[in-house]
Amino acid sequence: MSTDDAGKAKSNQQWGGRFSEGVDAFVQEFTASVQFDQRMYRQDICGSRAHARMLHKVGVISEEDLNAILGGLDEIEQEIAEGRFQWSVELEDVHMNIEARLTDKIGIAGKRLHTGRSRNDQVATDIRLYMRDAIEAVQAETRRLLEGMLHLASRHTSAVMPGFTHLQTAQPVTFGHHVMAWFEMLMRDHSRLQDCARRMNVMPLGAAALAGTSYPIDRNYTAELLGFDCPAENSLDAVSDRDFSIEFCAAASIIMTHLSRISEELVLWSSAQFAFIDLPDRFCTGSSIMPQKKNPDVPELVRGKTGRVNGHLISLLTLMKSQPLAYNKDNQEDKEPLFDTVDTLLGSLRAFADMIPAIEIKADNMREAAFRGFSTATDLADYLVRKGLPFRDAHEVVGKAVRLGVDSGRDLSEMSLEELQGFSDKIGADVFSVLTPEGAVQARDHIGGTAPAQVSKAIQRGHERLAALS
Ligand code: ARG
Repeated sequence: MSTDDAGKAKSNQQWGGRFSEGVDAFVQEFTASVQFDQRMYRQDICGSRAHARMLHKVGVISEEDLNAILGGLDEIEQEIAEGRFQWSVELEDVHMNIEARLTDKIGIAGKRLHTGRSRNDQVATDIRLYMRDAIEAVQAETRRLLEGMLHLASRHTSAVMPGFTHLQTAQPVTFGHHVMAWFEMLMRDHSRLQDCARRMNVMPLGAAALAGTSYPIDRNYTAELLGFDCPAENSLDAVSDRDFSIEFCAAASIIMTHLSRISEELVLWSSAQFAFIDLPDRFCTGSSIMPQKKNPDVPELVRGKTGRVNGHLISLLTLMKSQPLAYNKDNQEDKEPLFDTVDTLLGSLRAFADMIPAIEIKADNMREAAFRGFSTATDLADYLVRKGLPFRDAHEVVGKAVRLGVDSGRDLSEMSLEELQGFSDKIGADVFSVLTPEGAVQARDHIGGTAPAQVSKAIQRGHERLAALS
């Protein structure tokens, strides 16, 4: 930092008038945000261009000043993009770094840019612009993952596997149906992001520090230039609330929670104990000591990163909860959790979008597992109901048959007709068609059911729903 002859820090060039000494060197470092908010430089420059155009439109700055500002901002944008820009901690944040550089370049016109504006409405605008692009990128990866899920499901509409409740074999389902359950989760995530983007797209500029400004500004014009739906209604609210970031982090946490649940299944299924799937080698790593190992690192890491994203959501909620109106410096702490959420989410979605469609299934093992655990017991009960038995009695009959199966180590489908008829004389030779996993899935033939024909229709509708996303 710069010092005067006596070795004391010089007061800050942006507000030096009020201060008799410069800020402590450590405090300067401690209070700065330029290390992490420089990632919003494009948005900051965009906001400045629009603000300058508006100031000129309403007659606050001359055409000459406007042109100097626009030219200077273009050069600065290029300097930053090419890594030639000297970021300075003394200038605290991205906003003051860029503004100071502008004044260096174009002189007095640069000093006019901040008319009717404050860093408070500036930063609230920059984050929204940044998040608008970030949400679009997250949605694009989500969509790619959704396409990957449709692809995987469509390859296996009729492969049978056990469906689980309590992680105990429950009833047979098709693998395609299981994958389409994931698809539904991620479709809701996509629409949550859409809601979040819509509520976020309101412009703070013009709120200035907190109360608005005495210049004859045209906020609708600035909003239009920046692609916001409208100016924010209330200046105090506009500069202070970060609920849009919290909302994004909440949506991100839910997405990560979904990816984490899927991860858990992939980890289980790729184990030797389940042996339902093969994850492509390129998404796994080996062990430095155990030569046989192929570890499902990608799903494990995504499951782990969920904790990190959840933590960021709690950080932002806690950051906000005690803040009186309007802006408080606390809000500078919003960026690191938010940016890390964007990065972590994008990385996780990208890995999943690449990995999911490349999964290979071990259909024989899945089918074999569906025979174990009496997964067609409900189907036998339903069969007896169709033959006139009340459901509770049918449940009792099948319970007894299952007990025989447990004792003799056999599935219901492996018992003879005579044995089965010993439990109920309503049982006929046609019973065997409902005792196979194929028969069981075939029977659940309604919207939302697991029958292969229904899964194919769900996939078809899935393609249409994806195509209709904005
Ligand atoms: N770096 C600040 C932030 O991230 C910008 C706004 C600062 N405003 C202020 N009055 N100190 O929130």
